[in-house]
Amino acid sequence: MRTLLPALASRSTILENWRCISLLVAAIVLAATTATVSNAQAPAPIGGHFALTATDGSNVTDATYRGKWLLVYFGYTSCPDVCPTVLNEIGVALDGLGPLANKVQPIFITVDPVRDTARALAAYLESFDPRIVGLRGAPEQIEAAAKSYHVYYRARSLGDGEYTIDHSSFLYVMKPDGDFAELHAGDLPGHTLADELNKLVK
Ligand code: NI
Repeated sequence: MRTLLPALASRSTILENWRCISLLVAAIVLAATTATVSNAQAPAPIGGHFALTATDGSNVTDATYRGKWLLVYFGYTSCPDVCPTVLNEIGVALDGLGPLANKVQPIFITVDPVRDTARALAAYLESFDPRIVGLRGAPEQIEAAAKSYHVYYRARSLGDGEYTIDHSSFLYVMKPDGDFAELHAGDLPGHTLADELNKLVK
């Protein structure tokens, strides 16, 4: 038994490292593409396009929300830690914005449409802030949206049909005309996010 323990520990360390490396690579790719923003010749690095379905059943695209500043985040409702934290901070930011929050539309796009039914997604987001819109779609639609935002996500089996989804954690701020504005780390505190949005939106 004793010899098993180190073996198990090192295997889980390898998995953990692989996971970190994957996210790091995704972040580097994202940083590299974001760096081209300053180059006027380069195309916009983050397209920001999506064609998905809202939890009320309506079909929407990014164009549906023109005129609002979008705060876009990709995640899933069974996420153990990162997603709830980000959603909580988004709620804090909206409260911090006061009436200016009317100009901001937070959007949560699920990367787990199988478990995140419209009803589950709506109930989950309602528990954080009713102003956050939940979007879902067929796996191909979500894949296309994720590609447009350079979002990385991958399901990881936990055995017995259970799975978790590793995903990059960035908040995308899109301008009212649909262009990319800013990128923030998912762990940005809500009051800091409110300050950042306040500068843009007012
Ligand atoms: Ni998450």
